[in-house]
Amino acid sequence: MSIDIPQVTLNNGVQMPILGFGVYQIPAEQTEQAVADALAAGYRLLDTAAAYGNEEAVGRAILKSGIPREELFVTTKLWVQDTGEENTQRAFDASLERLGLDYLDLYLIHQPFGDVYGSWRAMERLNREGRVRAIGVSNFHPDRLVDLIEHHDVTPAVNQIETHPFFQRTADQEIMRERGVQIESWGPFAEGRNNLFSDPVLTEIGAGYGKSVAQVVLRWLVQRGVVVIPKSVRAERMAQNIDVFDFALTDEQMARIAGMDTGASLFFDHRDPAMVSRISSVRIHD
Ligand SMILES: NC(=O)c1ccc[n+]([C@@H]2O[C@H](COP(=O)([O-])OP(=O)(O)OC[C@H]3O[C@@H](n4cnc5c(N)ncnc54)[C@H](OP(=O)(O)O)[C@@H]3O)[C@@H](O)[C@H]2O)c1
Repeated sequence: MSIDIPQVTLNNGVQMPILGFGVYQIPAEQTEQAVADALAAGYRLLDTAAAYGNEEAVGRAILKSGIPREELFVTTKLWVQDTGEENTQRAFDASLERLGLDYLDLYLIHQPFGDVYGSWRAMERLNREGRVRAIGVSNFHPDRLVDLIEHHDVTPAVNQIETHPFFQRTADQEIMRERGVQIESWGPFAEGRNNLFSDPVLTEIGAGYGKSVAQVVLRWLVQRGVVVIPKSVRAERMAQNIDVFDFALTDEQMARIAGMDTGASLFFDHRDPAMVSRISSVRIHD
């Protein structure tokens, strides 16, 4: 299988595929097979996190695939519990060991909570040492992102945030563009919420190209310059989700989808104090 996946160039010159494979909520015992199937379908960007509990399975699939390391782009994330300068160094080493890798392509601060300043200093060092090719953040609203940028040497290469037809983040994307931060979508299908997969507008647009709703959504995101990492455990959907580079939406179709934005999260707001407490209390190890 060879689908040519376009790349984006990050602010430090590193190239990143615009479409990859996410493994959130794939149980560890299913992850090796899912990643093996995704690699066979042509995905080369893999997105995991220490908090997903499946880094080891991702690592096994990478090893068994025999794909040269430099052809892959592997992302993992630092959990809140491990923020702070020394903790981050330790958590990074532990993630690399679980993945069975000797360097990472992208390391993200998973949530904008805890000692993210200490973490960022450790990540800047790891980046300088060549142990991670690019560093970034996730779930940062523009105010937190700009604050981090203003007070450090290295600007995050990526901010991975909830982005889908019901929560489009165009204003946030513009601020990131001005600052040189690549937007990456999590939950491109909103995990199917709001009946996304049977949405009439997306269905009608897809019918004109012989494409599914999922393909229209991914095409709309990549056409906006958003990196996408759809998740599926089914090989036929993996093949479908990567097959979005042989058609283009018109300006009118892009505008119709823009009309679906509600401007609000379908999951939770990272500025809600109750959520800050809840997420901060999640522990992933002793
Ligand atoms: N940084 C963060 O805080 C954060 C948060 C959430 C997610 N993420 C990352 O973003 C990735 C993607 O987000 P997500 O997994 O939350 O949700 P998603 O990709 O929006 O949706 C996944 C759901 O859509 C279904 N699906 C996939 N392809 C489909 C298709 N072609 N047709 C119909 N249904 C389809 C999947 O079911 P099947 O598996 O049964 O096919 C699954 O239920 C994650 O895996 C993770 O890597 C990051």
